[in-house]
Amino acid sequence: MNYTLTPMNALGIGAEIRGLDTTMPVSDEVRRQLNADFAKYHVLALRDQKLSADQFLASCGLFGEIMEHHRKNSATPENPRVYEIRNIETSPGKYFISGASFHTDHSNDPVPPKATALHAISLPSYGGDTQFVDMHQAYDDLPETMKQRLGKLKAVHVYQSKYSPRKLRVVDAQTIQHTPPPAIHPLVRTHPENGRKFLYINPVRIESILGMPDEESQALIAELMAHATQLKYEYRHKWLHGDMVIWDDRSVLHKANGDYDMKELRRMYRLMIRGVVHADETPTTADASLQRLPTGVV
Ligand code: OGA
Ligand code: MN
Repeated sequence: MNYTLTPMNALGIGAEIRGLDTTMPVSDEVRRQLNADFAKYHVLALRDQKLSADQFLASCGLFGEIMEHHRKNSATPENPRVYEIRNIETSPGKYFISGASFHTDHSNDPVPPKATALHAISLPSYGGDTQFVDMHQAYDDLPETMKQRLGKLKAVHVYQSKYSPRKLRVVDAQTIQHTPPPAIHPLVRTHPENGRKFLYINPVRIESILGMPDEESQALIAELMAHATQLKYEYRHKWLHGDMVIWDDRSVLHKANGDYDMKELRRMYRLMIRGVVHADETPTTADASLQRLPTGVV
């Protein structure tokens, strides 16, 4: 079985895949092609999939091994290994939207994920797009002096930075147990599959940059974010029923939008794919005492 790929735009970020039924056996050749396309386009939208939780789990296997989520209180009732996100009413009339500012998933892990995949189960009638920005292109366009400066810098990523622009959901005891120690990552990393450099920044998790006062590191992160989130780097995904969308957590930052009618349900199955680091990088943990978890009433 083969498929057709159509780039979403001229930017080189995002492509639509049609004609692939991920519930059917996929040959090694097609699987290799799919992963090559993924390394090139960073976001793939596989159209017309109608997957049960079990089928979604199997389909994600096309891209690698499943990575355990840190949050244990988000499993879908259909399958404890599959997670779900939805607009949650936390108190009457107040809703929690996960991921509503640009970030990359689980960068607090010393070996962060390769990818995250969502499968639309229920979509609002308008809004709820997901935005993606290309961190390879954003890096390539930086002035040479900035590239040299960033090339020497490493950041400490904790579960929730004290400088995070938004609060994450409170974690339960089981989640705390499964959360790895905080991580140290270079600000500029090399993609293990496509070999390109990319900016690895995440305002939700970066607590500090090693050897730099916080005021200066926060100013640098803000400057890089302003650069990297320009429209010219963005692909904005409008969800269609049946979409399975997978994005590369190294190549892009992403952002959810809570701009729809909260009386309508937006519900997605969610899984991550285990990552590897480039041969030139060594997974590094930061001191456990630096960890910050949002605790309190779950
Ligand atoms: C996520 C996420 C974006 C969205 O699942 O990690 O950020 O649009 N989702 O729901
Ligand atoms: Mn996310």
